[in-house]
Order: sequence, then C-alpha cells, then structure tokens
Amino acid sequence: MTTPHDDLPPLDRKDRRARLLHALGDGLLVLRAPPLRVHANDVEAPHRPSADVYYLTGFPEPDAVVLFDGSAPTERFVLFVQPLDPERETWTGPRAGVTGAVERYGADAAYPVSELDAHLSERIANGGALHYSLGHDQEFDRHLLGLATSAWDRRPRNQSGRTRSILDPRPLIHEMRLRKSDAEIEWLRRSAVIGTAAHRRAMAETRPGGWEHEIEALLDYEFRRAGTRGWAYPSIVAAGAHATVLHYTANDGRLDGADLLLVDAGCDLDLYCSDITRTWPIGREPSPAQQRVHAAVLESQLAGIAAVRPGATLEEVHHRALEVLCEHLLSFGCVQGTVESVIAEGTYKPFYMHRTSHWLGLDVHDVGAYEVKGQARPLEPGMVLTVEPGLYFGAGARGASPSLAGIGVRIEDDVVVTATGCEVLTAGAPKDLDSILSLRGTD
Ligand code: GLY
Ligand code: MN
Ligand code: MN
Repeated sequence: MTTPHDDLPPLDRKDRRARLLHALGDGLLVLRAPPLRVHANDVEAPHRPSADVYYLTGFPEPDAVVLFDGSAPTERFVLFVQPLDPERETWTGPRAGVTGAVERYGADAAYPVSELDAHLSERIANGGALHYSLGHDQEFDRHLLGLATSAWDRRPRNQSGRTRSILDPRPLIHEMRLRKSDAEIEWLRRSAVIGTAAHRRAMAETRPGGWEHEIEALLDYEFRRAGTRGWAYPSIVAAGAHATVLHYTANDGRLDGADLLLVDAGCDLDLYCSDITRTWPIGREPSPAQQRVHAAVLESQLAGIAAVRPGATLEEVHHRALEVLCEHLLSFGCVQGTVESVIAEGTYKPFYMHRTSHWLGLDVHDVGAYEVKGQARPLEPGMVLTVEPGLYFGAGARGASPSLAGIGVRIEDDVVVTATGCEVLTAGAPKDLDSILSLRGTD
C-alpha cells in the first residue's frame, strides 16, 4: 500500500522485538489488542491499534493476542488473529489471517484467536515468568487469571516451587518506547509539521463572528488531507472563557472579536502524535490584559524550553516555567509574597493547575516512568516531551483583577532532547501575537 508518507524511514520492529526478547529472558509476555468498542447500538467506534502491540508488531487489527515466549525454541513471537472470513470481510474489510500474520508481520507462527487458550495454558505451565499488564482490560484480566491459575495447578509436584506470579511488562516495553529512535523522531517531526500547518491555517482563517466548530473542522480537514489518521485527541477550540476549561471540547461557541482563541490540537500519523497549543486574538487588537497574559505565558514557555537538555528533569523544566509564571502573577497582583513563597505555598494554583510537560509518542500522553527510584528522571537524547505552561483566569481564579477575568492562555510545543539541548519539532507554528496576526490577510 502506498501512502503520502512512504518517504519516511522504516521503523525497525524486528530490532525492537529482539531487544524485548533479550530483556524477557525465559519469560512469557502476553499483549492483547482488544476487540472493537461500540460507539452506539450496533455502530462501532473508530479503531486505534493498541500502541504496545503496534510498536512491537505493526499488527493493526483488533481482537488479537501477541505472545513473546522467551523459553520457546522456535515459536517465540506468536500472533493469534481473527481468521480469514470472506463473509465478515465483505462488511469490515480484509484481514491478514494466520498466513498474513506470518508473511506480512514476521511472526514465527500464527493461529486463530479461538485457539489461544490451549496454547496459552501450555506455555504458562511450561514457560518462565508470566508478564502481563493487569488493570486495562477487565474481561481479559479475569480470563487470563483463570487460565494461569489452572495451568499452574497442573504443573507436576516437582515443579510446584516455580513462580506463580504475574509480572508487569510495562517497564520492559515502555522504557523502550520512551527513547525514540532517529526514525521515530522523523515520524514525530512529520506529525508536528502537519499539526503546525493546521494551526497556521486556523490562525489565518479566524474571524470575529465565526464559530469554534468551524475552526475545529479546518483542523480536521488539514489533518486528514495530509494523510494522517486525524486528530490525536479531540481538538480543543476554546474562545474567551472557554479557554479556562482545560479540556474544553464542546467547540460550539461563537468567536467574539474581543476574545482570545485557544487551540490545542494535534494529529495522529500512524500513531505518532503531535500535541500543539497556540492562543491568539480573534479580532486584530488584543486588550492590554490579554497581551500581558499572553506575553507572560510565552516567556514562561521559552524559559521551560531553554531548560530542556540531557541531564535536566521534567521537574526542573516545570519549575523554571513556573517561576516565570509566578513573577507575572505577582506583578498582576494575583498573588502576594515572593516567587519562592508563592511556589512553596501553592498560591499560584488557581491560575496554573497542571504540570508543564508529559512524554509524547505513540500515545499523546506517552508511556515511560517519570521517576526512577523515587527521583525525577534525567532527560536523555531521544526522549520527546511537551512544554505547555498556561494561565487561566476562570471561575476559580479569585483575587484577579476584573480585566483578567475569562482569559485563558496556553502555549505548547513538542520538544525532542538532543545531545546538546533540544529541538522544537513544532516551531512551524508562530507563537507571538504579531507573527500570528501577520498570517491573517486583510478582511
Ligand atoms: N492536549 C492534551 C495535552 O496537552 O496534554
Ligand atoms: Mn500536552
Ligand atoms: Mn495539548
């Protein structure tokens, strides 16, 4: 199949599997791609492949199970898939089937998913430690626990001392996903370029009297037109006080020329996500209060980005961005004391109630531990994060002057840690108000 993104470098899933199997030792890892979810009645929700399964196998279909069996002599990577079924495929599209699972996805062996239990019981009884992530799929959790218990009970007496525990595989897989390869960074860069182009178009086409949903539709159009799967998360298109609701997604309000518009939107390029926020005036002349808040958040965001380098931590990035926000909150008269006391006492929280960064990758809030042995984790080249401070003067923002009421500003970039500092993947969307307004033609 050809796509508009065939020029991107291939992703080396074989190498990922080799590294995983090495780390697994003689363990048995079970991953499930869940069945389709229902949207309403008999209509299914759009399917997004399970990120762990997709990362390791590229297998995109629902209702499949992947086994990695480090103790097996040959069948170490095994896919259990929906079998070919011409009648069903007429309705829902072609399946790989067991032959395709081996030929196209490189499995050592493949079986219909209906045969999973027999294979799994056998391997649990005879294999090493069982690795499975509990708590995401209750139905399958119960099923697997039942299978594992009876498989362990069937072991001969002389093997009764062998482990009966279930180990969490996330440290194995998610540590791998946290460190992006050069090829993955290319995919993220492309996702960011498409995301920033959509933001530029939204900036250019914002008009007083328009609607939030019109801007949302433009974003969706640009994401799909560029051949991505569409939005990476429901776009936030928040005019005026809607921007003080962090995850506002109703997107049904009118665009008033006296307000700012906050847009938090990114796309999903074969699961590689972008996550971008810009805030701009709907009219051409932001109020002094709007300009001050925007300048404060921009200064904070640039300070946060400047702190991203190998060895720094997300805690330090957050702290740096927070210090700048607090300086401005003091100058606005919203809080009293010093930057240190405002941070120590948390009096900034009515105006800034979220963290500054999260990991970014195949999930928009990507996987990977934020702490190692109880300490904030040092950044390494290849880690990708967002830097997204904001200030919000919503219903809970008591003590702010009336001129600030209803203002919400967030600015968010996607940043990759490099050997010497960082690269901003989303630099293609302007951030300062003059540059944004210069994108808008004369009415
Ligand atoms: N768009 C969700 C976030 O910024 O984390
Ligand atoms: Mn984000
Ligand atoms: Mn965001």
